[in-house]
Amino acid sequence: MHWTNAVAMLVIIGSGWGIYNDSVIFGSLHFSKHIKLGSWAAASLQWHFAGMWLLAANGVAYLTYGIVTGRLRERLLPIRLRDIVQTVRDTLRLHVDHTDLTTYNAVQKVLYIVVILVGISQVVTGLAV
Ligand code: HEM
Repeated sequence: MHWTNAVAMLVIIGSGWGIYNDSVIFGSLHFSKHIKLGSWAAASLQWHFAGMWLLAANGVAYLTYGIVTGRLRERLLPIRLRDIVQTVRDTLRLHVDHTDLTTYNAVQKVLYIVVILVGISQVVTGLAV
């Protein structure tokens, strides 16, 4: 699911550049035809929405799996303020614990939740546009 997200994001970013090229906002800034997706604005928009559907379907699958199996709650909760402060302190002293990579520290938990919310807001605000 992680790498499906990566593919969806590349499609959305490449086609976003194609849409941008159709009506350049910043003077000399436009994207090479070698890195943008879609031959012109309408084609880029279709790629953009194809990427959106991939991102949205993958997100729904990820959240459903995470909620049904309890994985999300198990990995991302609870988050305590004192654990966040402790992790920041440990990090500043270069003492972050890497022995068990399946257990996330408090800062990771916060950031992973934020990333999930960012993904949801990308789809919702994109659809609003
Ligand atoms: C996932 C759901 C998304 C949807 C449904 C969506 C939808 C749209 C639409 C409808 C436009 C055309 C706006 C117009 O006609 O002026 C647009 C433009 C654009 N989008 Fe998205 N978008 C999404 C996500 C993203 C993401 C994640 C990025 C980049 C990381 C992105 C980058 C862009 C860019 C660069 C443009 C061109 C802006 C401009 O120059 O006017 N989009 N998007």
